[in-house]
Amino acid sequence: MVPPAASSSPSPPIDGEVFRRVLSRFPTGVVAVTGVVDGEAAGFAVGSFMSVSLDPPLVAFGVARSSSTWPRIRPSGSFCVNVLSEEQEALCRTFAAKGSDRFRDVDWVPAPTGSPIIHGCLAWIDCELTDQHRAGDHDLVVGQVRDLGARDTSPGPLLFFARQFGGFRPLARTGS
Ligand SMILES: Cc1cc2nc3c(=O)[nH]c(=O)nc-3n(C[C@H](O)[C@H](O)[C@H](O)COP(=O)(O)O)c2cc1C
Repeated sequence: MVPPAASSSPSPPIDGEVFRRVLSRFPTGVVAVTGVVDGEAAGFAVGSFMSVSLDPPLVAFGVARSSSTWPRIRPSGSFCVNVLSEEQEALCRTFAAKGSDRFRDVDWVPAPTGSPIIHGCLAWIDCELTDQHRAGDHDLVVGQVRDLGARDTSPGPLLFFARQFGGFRPLARTGS
C-alpha cells in the first residue's frame, strides 16, 4: 500500500551538494560501458549499472544527458558493460576524464556485438539497446543481454563509496 503523503505543503528544494553527499553513502561497483563509433572503440565510466530482469535478461544504467560518448555509441544499437576490478582504478579515472584518448593503453577484444571487452575486467555483459527513458538530467538506458562472461573473483571489484575508490573486504564468518 502506498503511504499517505506526510503533508500537503510543498517540499523544500533539495540542495544539490546535500543530495550528492547523502547519495554518496550508497556504495556502487564501477563499470565501463563500451561501444564502437566509426570503427573506433569508445567508452565511459558508469556507477549506476544494475541488473533489471532475468526473463528476458535486461540490465540498465543511468547516463547524464550531458554525456558526449553515449550519444555516439547509441546509434550502433549495442553496448558492452565491463565490470572493473580494483586493479583498474587508473582506467576508471581515464574513462571518466573528458577529452582523454581512453583506449590508448587498453587491450580489448570485440564481444559478439562488436563492442569492446576490456582486458582484465571481472565480467562483461554484451547488450542490445532496447529502451532509453528520460529521467531528469539523466536518461535510463535498458539493454537486453546477448552474451556475457566472467573470470574468477580475484582481484576483487573496484568500488566507489563516499567519493573514494576502494576494494571489497568479505566479513569474517561468525556462524556455522
Ligand atoms: C565512479 C564513477 C561513476 C560514474 N557513474 C556515472 C554514471 O552512472 N552515469 C554517467 O553518465 N556518468 C557517470 N560517471 C561520469 C562519467 O564517467 C564522466 O562524466 C565521463 O566523463 C562521461 O564522458 P563523456 O562526456 O565522454 O560521455 C561516473 C564517473 C565515475 C568516476
